Amino acid sequence: MAFDFFTLKDKIILISGASSGIGQACARRCADAGATVVLLARNKERLQSTRDSLFQSDKHITISADLMNDELPEKRLNEITENLGKISGFIHAAGISSTLPLRMVTEHQLSEMYKVNVLSAVSLTKWMSKPSHFHESGCSVVWIASIMGMVGEVAKISYSLTKGALIAGAKSLALELAPKKIRVNTVSPGVVSSPMTENAVYNQTDIGRERIQALHPLGLGTVNDVANACHFLVSDESRWITGTNLVIDGGYTAR
Ligand SMILES: NC(=O)c1ccc[n+]([C@@H]2O[C@H](COP(=O)([O-])OP(=O)(O)OC[C@H]3O[C@@H](n4cnc5c(N)ncnc54)[C@H](OP(=O)(O)O)[C@@H]3O)[C@@H](O)[C@H]2O)c1
Repeated sequence: MAFDFFTLKDKIILISGASSGIGQACARRCADAGATVVLLARNKERLQSTRDSLFQSDKHITISADLMNDELPEKRLNEITENLGKISGFIHAAGISSTLPLRMVTEHQLSEMYKVNVLSAVSLTKWMSKPSHFHESGCSVVWIASIMGMVGEVAKISYSLTKGALIAGAKSLALELAPKKIRVNTVSPGVVSSPMTENAVYNQTDIGRERIQALHPLGLGTVNDVANACHFLVSDESRWITGTNLVIDGGYTAR
């Protein structure tokens, strides 16, 4: 009998940012691998249409919530673990980006980006790390960071600060949560085509697009390239991997 590698059967995977781009691709991949997916983002219509497009759509759950708020949708999350079961994986793909030179960076803008990209990742992981919320056989947390947390780019200071924070924080958290069999890793993509990058400043001109493409020796990636890695990291096949940052960038940072 062939072995069912990378199966997510009987696993419940929470995915923030599941209404679009990378999070949506992760939701599809996890559902295809047999998981029940909890899709979290703000936009109800896009969440619903994503859910409808998933394999065995009826079994998946949506939560509409704004992660800019200080409060998590804790009541709704608790209901899910009480009624559906405990969480085996969490992919934090919710995020916002900006291209702003230092003279335009404000405390308010920095704080908003920090809330969505970093604080919500920490708060959701904190919620999940309670014994009544994560599966006793183990759990995998994947925060989507970025190569901008590792290398620099002009006018990316706000975004880079948040992504570097995820990469650094995940290492300490991996050590703290290892006794609970909770693994914590980051994934750092280069540029992949998504609604976020379609709106990016460099994508508004031919010169900008060509420059970004030239920085990726294998060309630009797709959301599925990132979802493949996330699927691996929430599967049992990655059971010995924690505290690492998996770079998926078509060679951008190889130089
Ligand atoms: N695309 C790339 O090239 C690339 C490269 C490196 C890293 N990343 C990272 O990958 C992640 C996903 O990016 P993407 O390209 O898939 O972007 P995207 O298509 O814009 O998706 C972002 C997701 O985050 C959700 N979101 C944004 N603000 C939110 C809030 N306040 N509360 C709840 N959900 C919120 C959005 O849903 P709603 O609008 O429905 O709330 C959406 O589902 C981000 O962290 C990004 O920084 C992307």
